[in-house]
Amino acid sequence: MSADLAQIYSLRATAPTKPKIVAKGIQKYFGNVLAMKDISCTIHEREFVAIIGPSGCGKSTFLYLIAGFEKPSGGDLSINGQPVGGPGPDRGVVFQEFVLFPWLTVLRNITLGLDIKGVSRAEAEERARKWIRLTGLSGFEDAYPSTLSGGMKQRVAIARALTYDPEVLLLDEPFGALDVQTKNYMIRDMQDLWLEANRTIVMITHSVSEAVLMADRVLVLSSRPSEVIADVSIKLPHPREQRDPALRRYEDEITAILSAEVDKAMSLERQSIVQRS
Ligand SMILES: Nc1ncnc2c1ncn2[C@@H]1O[C@H](COP(=O)(O)OP(=O)(O)OP(=O)(O)O)[C@@H](O)[C@H]1O
Ligand SMILES: [Mg+2]
Repeated sequence: MSADLAQIYSLRATAPTKPKIVAKGIQKYFGNVLAMKDISCTIHEREFVAIIGPSGCGKSTFLYLIAGFEKPSGGDLSINGQPVGGPGPDRGVVFQEFVLFPWLTVLRNITLGLDIKGVSRAEAEERARKWIRLTGLSGFEDAYPSTLSGGMKQRVAIARALTYDPEVLLLDEPFGALDVQTKNYMIRDMQDLWLEANRTIVMITHSVSEAVLMADRVLVLSSRPSEVIADVSIKLPHPREQRDPALRRYEDEITAILSAEVDKAMSLERQSIVQRS
């Protein structure tokens, strides 16, 4: 670890941080279907929070609520003490299903947000090239999305969000489509970015090991209609070592909570099938 990073780690350990994202009793209906019944949590400035939960429990929906793409049906959601009224440049999103503009090159897809923001072309390209390099996309600046693999498209989406340099980075299973090597490489970069740039990161993942490796805290959601059933602080210094036994203990704890939740959801599902037949 460099001396600079060591300093940042100790600062992070002692500095009190302000609440950044506050969710109180969030409910979300889609038509008559209650997707979320009570999501309450506080995510602090510069925290890295991972969210994990059974498929369909509302993880992406929660991220879209923070991003301002969806509105809650009930409860309060604020960022920096202000209610979330819609999308804003302070939040960057990497979607679960990467969204690239097919008619723009890799470079233009990445700089688009900065172009709209009025950043000069030269600066936008300089910022983009850094993340193109770090995400292993060098040489593909002028390629169009249709010529890229799924993993490469996902890396373009990640590079775009990082280039934009938002205060809050919202990541919806950002490594889902990546091979193990690229994923490990990106995980390291993401951690360095978070440590150096003091960003707040909310990351959805299906991987408990990814969550405990990267996050300060892991929020576990119940099955639909969801609520927060566990809030586990991972009290280990960064950067963490995959094989650290302490990390494994957190992983086992969270996996047990998650498995019990999935078992419960499955048995309820079976009961309702039996009742209907
Ligand atoms: N626009 C929508 N209209 C109707 N129902 C929706 C809509 N968006 C989400 N839902 C429903 O809300 C629930 C939560 O969906 P969401 O995509 O947030 O789950 P998720 O936890 O991200 O799942 P996964 O792990 O599979 O990505 C699901 O039952 C889904 O069908
Ligand atoms: Mg999802």
